[in-house]
Amino acid sequence: MQTIDKFNFAGKKAIVRVDFNVPLDENGKITDDTRIRGALPTLKKILADGGSLIIMSHMGKPKGKVNAKYSLNQIVDEVSKQLGVKVAFAPDCAKAADAAKALKAGDALLLENLRFYAEEEGKPVGIEKEDPAYEAAKKEMKAKQKDFAKTLASYADCYVNDAFGTAHRKHASTAVIADYFDVENKMLGYLMEKEVQAVDNVLSNIKRPFVAIMGGSKVSSKIGIIENLLGKVDRLVLCGGMTYTFAKAHGGEIGNSIVELDKLDVALGVEELAKKNGVELVLGTDSVCCTDYDFATFSVKPGAKVEVFNSNSIPTEYEGLDAGPLSREKFAKAIEGAKTILWNGPAGCFECDEFTAGSRAIGDAIAKATAEGAFSLIGGGDSVACVNKFGLADKVSYISTGGGALLEAIEGKVLPGVAAIKGE
Ligand code: 3PG
Repeated sequence: MQTIDKFNFAGKKAIVRVDFNVPLDENGKITDDTRIRGALPTLKKILADGGSLIIMSHMGKPKGKVNAKYSLNQIVDEVSKQLGVKVAFAPDCAKAADAAKALKAGDALLLENLRFYAEEEGKPVGIEKEDPAYEAAKKEMKAKQKDFAKTLASYADCYVNDAFGTAHRKHASTAVIADYFDVENKMLGYLMEKEVQAVDNVLSNIKRPFVAIMGGSKVSSKIGIIENLLGKVDRLVLCGGMTYTFAKAHGGEIGNSIVELDKLDVALGVEELAKKNGVELVLGTDSVCCTDYDFATFSVKPGAKVEVFNSNSIPTEYEGLDAGPLSREKFAKAIEGAKTILWNGPAGCFECDEFTAGSRAIGDAIAKATAEGAFSLIGGGDSVACVNKFGLADKVSYISTGGGALLEAIEGKVLPGVAAIKGE
């Protein structure tokens, strides 16, 4: 397998898939640049060798349609600034042959959002799976996806995949494109190598106790990873909105809190599996609740009340939005003494100062355990944002740029973006 370290990019054009799906505020300003910073070592190495760069990424889910809200031209200045060269912009990723051809050693070009073409994801649009014509449409789209990947490949001499965040997608730019380069001319980037190593540290090199902290609002979206972790960890902290599905499953009163009523049995199943596997399941017992929270502006509406209640007896007009003081203490205690730590998903609506305490308690406890020798891996946009917000980024072992990709890797699934390079 080719490696980025061995490869000399001098005089070569490299097409590099990065994950620049970064969060933007309403003015198009980047609110967390972790993913851009993460790709810099790869991009800089190519330029330093005397190569030229064709950088490609998706942003958001524009579903095959051009949508200014997801245009990568919003980030081109920041990429230029961080890379230290003026990056040119190709406003149509499938019509960038001339711009790519014109690149000289040390030049860089950013292609417009790949997902403005449905071919990138390779899923037929505007037709339901139940439609009898679906299979034919799918086949047609797969053929178009190959053409699209071939077009992208035609811009360059070599291909580098450094988009760990998107490595769980079998898309034109993350996997199919690799078919158009021989084995000597395709490789993983530095970030991808580091991410794969970090996952390996957690999966194959477990030092115990192993503690995982899973937050987020839905049990359903995390159930695969939760079940998998229950076969590996010593303690599992479940926090965030999931708390209320567990509370409800035991007949608790949860007020207006988020709940998945059709997943109560799943919650009970998680508890049973934990018991069977001898895993200590740690759930919050109290919550910071609010009567009227604005999720659009991340703020407590004027006149709304904020109070702490037992998570099993939240009054009707209140909604649980963060872990209460007793839960925070419980979480910190569960993390204490851990030697391997995985954190994905915040404990509350950390974007609002009134509801950061739960996530902060987790972050602080992880930082403390790391200082005492634990390996800590933090992944998922929100938990990474928490770590950055609390100034703990250099107090944890590794911050992953992957959300879904990290979870799938930890579940033990093969990541198509990695497999396409490794030839698995
Ligand atoms: C992410 O933000 O997790 C990655 O960029 C992948 O995005 P996706 O879930 O839209 O494929």
